[in-house]
Amino acid sequence: MKVLLTGGLGFIGSHTCVELLNDGYDVVVIDNLSNSKMTMIDKIKEITKKDFSFYNIDYRDRNALEEVFEKEKVEAVINFAGFKAVGESVKEPLMYYDNNVCGAICLLETMKKYNVKKFVFSSSATVYGNPDVVPITEEAKIGRATNPYGTTKLVIEYILDDLYKSDNTWDIVVLRYFNPIGAHESGLIGEEPNGIPNNLMPYVTRVAKGVLEKLSVFGNDYNTHDGTGVRDYIHVVDLAKGHIKAIEKLDKENKGFFVYNLGTGKGYSVLDIVNAFKEENNVDVPYVIAPRRPGDIDSCYSDPTKAKNELGFVARRTLKDMVRDSWNYQLKN
Ligand code: NAD
Ligand code: UFG
Repeated sequence: MKVLLTGGLGFIGSHTCVELLNDGYDVVVIDNLSNSKMTMIDKIKEITKKDFSFYNIDYRDRNALEEVFEKEKVEAVINFAGFKAVGESVKEPLMYYDNNVCGAICLLETMKKYNVKKFVFSSSATVYGNPDVVPITEEAKIGRATNPYGTTKLVIEYILDDLYKSDNTWDIVVLRYFNPIGAHESGLIGEEPNGIPNNLMPYVTRVAKGVLEKLSVFGNDYNTHDGTGVRDYIHVVDLAKGHIKAIEKLDKENKGFFVYNLGTGKGYSVLDIVNAFKEENNVDVPYVIAPRRPGDIDSCYSDPTKAKNELGFVARRTLKDMVRDSWNYQLKN
């Protein structure tokens, strides 16, 4: 099967590309390099010893996209392309709606034109907003995103729902990721945020390396076991394997519109992460307790049962694996 990945040189896309190639899929990647580098192509090829097609195009460029569909005869699409920085989305909402929502519409219209109707979408736990209960099942209420980035994910989910209702020959899987961290065990590919990281793990690795002085732990008065925020961290390689399960479902099984959480079902606090990182890697991570970050919530972790029952997906990698592989990537890059 030939699968097109938009944004396939990014953090999650590159790991998924590796897993698809390793599993014998043909892969076509498009990426405009707005948050990735060409060197990623050689790294993916080095890990997999396999080849794939790459197009340096913007997925909002309809003509360029049509040329790819014309040439490549893809059978399914995974849409990773988009912007993802919460703070930036608050400052530049139009840029976020344009790239994420207009891009997705352009892609779906092109798919429709070429009668390619198998689609996997990178959504986010952010669509649940501040959940009423944890663990969060797929039946939990959505629609309370607290920033424009989160709203773009919601809007695209609504578009996909409407699209399927209008034409049930589409096969659509929406994957709601929890917090992806870690890196490929080779240390060749991993997360490369521009500038000072917003997310916890890339911040921790830079503090451990001495690039940044200390971590600010945003709040220690949350309603959690140690007062710091609890999240469901999932190893990016496990997350990538979740996409294979989604593609297998679209390839082999019944048609439909499906939504799955991709998480481990375990919640770890900020201090759990810092302590596990220090212990596993034998390196110090100086930190201070700082005020809460606006918009943050106490606890967010998944109920992963539906993905287990319907996709056969279980995240196997442990917190130790995640902190070790994150550090290994930082040391090698
Ligand atoms: P990333 O920024 O590393 O990867 C996105 C890739 O898309 C980059 O390579 C970028 O160059 C490319 N891209 C962006 N706009 C494009 C455009 N207009 N045309 C072509 N390529 C474009 O991000 P990631 O962490 O790999 O995330 C992938 C997807 O998963 C995103 O949609 C993101 O919103 C979603 N997601 C990520 C997280 C997370 O914590 N990383 C959590 C939930 C959901
Ligand atoms: N944190 C710190 N210090 C930091 C960075 C983060 O204490 O320097 C804390 C946060 O307060 C939070 C936890 O670490 O309690 C995780 O924060 P991240 O920024 O790494 O992740 P979030 O859960 O806030 O958000 C991430 C993505 C969102 C996505 C969401 C759910 O950034 O885009 O996971 O998938 F929507």
